[in-house]
Amino acid sequence: MPKALLEFAAGLMGAEDPVLENIRRKTPEKGLPPISIGPQEGKILETLARSCGARKIIEIGTLAGYSACHLARALSPGGIVHTVEYDARHAEVARENIAGAGLSGKIIVHEGAALDVLPKLESEGPFDVCFIDADKANYHRYLRWAAGNVRSGGLVIGDNAYLFGKLHLNPEQAGEDSAGVPAMREFLKTLADLDLFSSCAMIPTSEGMAVAVRR
Ligand SMILES: C[S@@+](CC[C@H](N)C(=O)[O-])C[C@H]1O[C@@H](n2cnc3c(N)ncnc32)[C@H](O)[C@@H]1O
Repeated sequence: MPKALLEFAAGLMGAEDPVLENIRRKTPEKGLPPISIGPQEGKILETLARSCGARKIIEIGTLAGYSACHLARALSPGGIVHTVEYDARHAEVARENIAGAGLSGKIIVHEGAALDVLPKLESEGPFDVCFIDADKANYHRYLRWAAGNVRSGGLVIGDNAYLFGKLHLNPEQAGEDSAGVPAMREFLKTLADLDLFSSCAMIPTSEGMAVAVRR
């Protein structure tokens, strides 16, 4: 579809919230990489989280808190987003942004490598939604954890599922994403495992957002 059409259609469905737009635009100025999800992906996340009445959400990969704020806005009353980030500077900026958005009471930023932190958060579950958006080489491991900690009927969502256009390449052709090729393929194959997930789909955003419903 032409870009003008996509922008027109998106505009009909509401502008990006100014608080969230500010977080997204200011993130690079604070020295963080411009790798958050975009406004359309944010709306998809909000819609998916609301559709399953989410009260407990876990996010892997916080960056500056942009997607965490979208998820927090979708929470049912009394709900909480736990988000995990291993870069101390990212976590610091995220906490500032979350406070600025008035969402400090709804989002907890946990610092550390996700594979170390996730086992410590199991007692907070089971979770309604797990959003995976960190290092691609561990996506299959994060999914294994999510399959054990997302409730029946809950959602697992993974961003960058096209692996920056490298998903179909041989690992040796994928450069710095070589370890991500087998990991992302295993991630997607596991989402399609009917013993674990009752349905799955690829939302064809520019990066590919994979979603599945826990059986
Ligand atoms: C794509 S960004 C997350 C963007 C964020 N979800 C958003 O859309 O606003 C990925 C983040 O994951 C963090 N990260 C990478 N590997 C990680 C790991 N093993 N454990 C925890 N965080 C990690 C990075 O430091 C980075 O901030």
